[in-house]
Amino acid sequence: MIIANWKMNTTRSEAIALAQDVRSISCRPSTKIGICPPAIWIDAVSNVLKGSPVLLGMQNCIGDPFGAQTGCINAEMAKGAGCQLVILGHSERRARFSETTEMLVPAVASVLETGNIPVFCIGETLAERDSGRAIEAVVGQLKPLLNAGLDLDGLIIAYEPVWAIGTGHSATVDDICIMHRTIRAIVDRPDALVLYGGSVSPESAGTVFSSTEVSGALVGGASLNAEKFAAIVAAWEQN
Ligand code: PGA
Repeated sequence: MIIANWKMNTTRSEAIALAQDVRSISCRPSTKIGICPPAIWIDAVSNVLKGSPVLLGMQNCIGDPFGAQTGCINAEMAKGAGCQLVILGHSERRARFSETTEMLVPAVASVLETGNIPVFCIGETLAERDSGRAIEAVVGQLKPLLNAGLDLDGLIIAYEPVWAIGTGHSATVDDICIMHRTIRAIVDRPDALVLYGGSVSPESAGTVFSSTEVSGALVGGASLNAEKFAAIVAAWEQN
């Protein structure tokens, strides 16, 4: 699965044009492509994707039911808008809005309740990696979710080292392998989908995808360019 995270990018017309280009990427039926546009363009992008196998996703949601939550969107709204995926726990939200896994448990639960797929992001900072605590940090971000007693069937995990996001420096394939293996062992599901995210580009994709531990990618910067995104999808299919 290759998921585009457009973050806070694109005007309405750019979002529509980009979605049209992504829709026309040809790939095997077994290769799932997803687009997570800014929430405000979900409707417009949903129109473009009608009848196509490209999945639509939100970049975030909260776990609360309908109510007085100014500026928030819940999982049911995401479902109603035509989404199948919801990214949760992205490091940019953990850093900027102090989101923690404990806080995100109700959001994960509510996305699962709607029948949608949470794409749960975890990853260590550079300081944590440099001090040899990368695995501890990643496991620490997962544990509160695993201890919450939810049926996590269908959950997708995205391993995204914070220091690799938007920097042009992907993690090495050995480091990705070790981390993905650790994540699968901890969630106790050998078949769990574990994506890698962090500077995946047409140049780095072949190496990242060379590991059988990698189930696909969460792509930020390179997903804003349809040709680059298509090249990443092609790299996936060549591996
Ligand atoms: P990047 O972002 O591909 O620009 O590094 C990935 C992400 O944040 O999901």
